[in-house]
Amino acid sequence: MFGRHAAAQATRVNKARGAYARAVATLTTFLHRTGTLWTRLAPSSFEPEGGMPGRKVPVRWRVATDETMRHVVRQGKVLAVPELAHSVHVEVEGLKAGREYFFQFEYRDDLSPVGHTRTAPSSKERVGSLAFAFASCQRWDEGYYSAYRRMAEEELAFVVHLGDYLYEYGIDANGGFRNVPVPDQFRPETTTLDRYRLQHALYKSAPTCRRRTGSSRGSSPHIKFFDGDRRGYVRCSVDRDEWRTDLRMVETVSRPESPIETFASFLVEDGHPGAVRV
Ligand SMILES: [Fe+2]
Repeated sequence: MFGRHAAAQATRVNKARGAYARAVATLTTFLHRTGTLWTRLAPSSFEPEGGMPGRKVPVRWRVATDETMRHVVRQGKVLAVPELAHSVHVEVEGLKAGREYFFQFEYRDDLSPVGHTRTAPSSKERVGSLAFAFASCQRWDEGYYSAYRRMAEEELAFVVHLGDYLYEYGIDANGGFRNVPVPDQFRPETTTLDRYRLQHALYKSAPTCRRRTGSSRGSSPHIKFFDGDRRGYVRCSVDRDEWRTDLRMVETVSRPESPIETFASFLVEDGHPGAVRV
């Protein structure tokens, strides 16, 4: 079973498919009615310059209310420049509060995967409850991102990544735990901007999470907490009466499809200071 997954992963690492094969569209958090769309053009992201020409190139972007990108509500064109490794940052304004949106980039005839996000509720709206998750410490060469796959299945308003989105350590020729061939340029520790871009591209090369809609939900970190054996994330649900925290843990990082379970839960109730394990 593991061998089959490893082979599939190797295929993904070694084949580029279009400008977005490694660095798919993703998003930093939408705040209220504005937000930043992000992607990077890198058809050969393990090569210097990501396989892009050393000049500015135009990139189109669109934001739509449906996943098929038919009902476009905002769109525009930006220049991706070599100084920023042809990464693209688009500030989108004028969106409606508390809505789901989808977005996509276009470079020449190449379309990025469709990204998904939602805007925060209006400040006038009374929010009954809120669910979010936080995560940290994802390490590509120490296992599959099983936990993030499960996180993407949750109904969450947002996800906070607390840090260690990537580690600076050099990557073994066999990709460590993943048993995937990794080019020589990954062997040294990350100490330069170019090397960091390579590492970032490698971490981004992990299969994106797909949920009920099949849409791309960004990259998929696995998260360690407590110790090196337990991986997962923390889910928080908040309403007027209580704050519940669940420590969600995957069974194993040896399988991308690993199931997840709640390891422990804690409750803080209104009027009762302190968390109580439930
Ligand atoms: Fe860490």
